[in-house]
Amino acid sequence: MNYQVFETYAEMSKAAAKIIADEIRAKPDCVLGLATGSSPIGTYDELARMHREEGLSFARCTTVNLDEYRGLAGTHPQSYRYFMNEHLFSRVDMRLDHTFVPNGTAPDPAAECAAYDARLESLGGSDIQLLGIGPDGHIGFNEPADVFTKATHLVDLAPSTIEANARFFDSAADVPRQALTMGMGGIMGAKKILLVASGAAKKAVLDAAMTGPITPRLPASLLQLHKDVTVLYST
Ligand code: GLP
Repeated sequence: MNYQVFETYAEMSKAAAKIIADEIRAKPDCVLGLATGSSPIGTYDELARMHREEGLSFARCTTVNLDEYRGLAGTHPQSYRYFMNEHLFSRVDMRLDHTFVPNGTAPDPAAECAAYDARLESLGGSDIQLLGIGPDGHIGFNEPADVFTKATHLVDLAPSTIEANARFFDSAADVPRQALTMGMGGIMGAKKILLVASGAAKKAVLDAAMTGPITPRLPASLLQLHKDVTVLYST
């Protein structure tokens, strides 16, 4: 595991964006596994700047996002589809029909999850998967559990996740209780993994994930078994 520490969030975000941009330049038709949350916002800002000022093109890329809240349509400002359109897709030359986020309003979530995995498989998995980490060690919305779940699945959000994400909603009561998330198989199937985290509150869970026991009680700990993981942390 390649672990790098930065003084500031801006420096960390620049480094993360450079890793993704290098991937796109090396393979213009690459598959980018993307993430939401506050941690990758600076990375997306920097990628948008590189598009504007340096001609970085996303025109041939395909993107596959980690997760979506159950019950939120892509037009809902707190949906992850909306987040991606706002923070990245609308700011670069990405083809929207080449961007995939689970459909939170699919009438049959199990069918939606199966179709999502079939798509990921047909794409050959992600070339690089960007990740954040939740305060309980979740990645995507793979919450602490008795077992790791391989496939994309419908998950009940942990109370700590609902509380942590309440800051984006009017109140905790408005946070959806469920989400559709790529499973650990889809994440671990990426050729490279890039995890970004910032702030003292994330340090302990990050350290435990990187060096502690590999356990589904701390889902990010499974990343220790991936052969190409870069973790960028800023204080
Ligand atoms: C949400 C997302 C995760 C993200 C996590 C941490 O729960 N589903 O993918 O990593 O939040 O978010 P933040 O970066 O805002 O701390």
